Amino acid sequence: MKFFVDTADIDAIRELHALGMVDGVTTNPSLIMKSGRDIKEVTAEICALVDGPVSAETVALDADGMINEGRELAKIADNITIKVPLTWAGLQACKVLSGEGRMVNVTLCFSANQALLAAKAGATFISPFVGRLDDINIDGMDLIAEIRQIYDNYAFDTEILVASIRTANHMKDAALIGADVATAPPAVIKAMANHVLTDKGLEGFMADWAKTGQSII
Ligand code: E4P
Repeated sequence: MKFFVDTADIDAIRELHALGMVDGVTTNPSLIMKSGRDIKEVTAEICALVDGPVSAETVALDADGMINEGRELAKIADNITIKVPLTWAGLQACKVLSGEGRMVNVTLCFSANQALLAAKAGATFISPFVGRLDDINIDGMDLIAEIRQIYDNYAFDTEILVASIRTANHMKDAALIGADVATAPPAVIKAMANHVLTDKGLEGFMADWAKTGQSII
């Protein structure tokens, strides 16, 4: 499973990138707002740092507007993925932009039928939002399993990009189901390294090592 980082925070991307943990980046208007940076400037910096796909989201609500914004965003770098919402207009824009050979990420997906339409419209990535479904007491991972089944049934090329990830367990569940990509905030990726027994074990080893009076260097 590929790891995308869901942030526009350059320092956080750089830290994970140094460990080989960044296969791509996703941003959205809220993350750009949080960064306090100009969208083109910060996106260009991310694209220069990361080789993989970097999603930049359109903000128009009509298809022509999304297509124009998508073409403009695509000028930033070759690894730009144009992100459009899963509306009828978004699907129209997806069809045109993917037909031009551009990568398209269809976002704000909350149903298997929406994911099926995105695949038919030529999406490179579909972004189902698991955390926001969990928030309303619908199991977001059930949706990932449904989309996996449908895409496999018909050998769609569209990659399942699990989004709105909130916990390390979401990462594990996405990997178990066979999602192609998971995009997560940096803190969630780092939290995957944590285990209480690792901490306890290390504490015991350190205590015993101190009793030996030895040093390695
Ligand atoms: C990813 O592409 C989305 O922008 C993101 O995962 C949304 O996450 P949120 O529901 O935590 O805002």
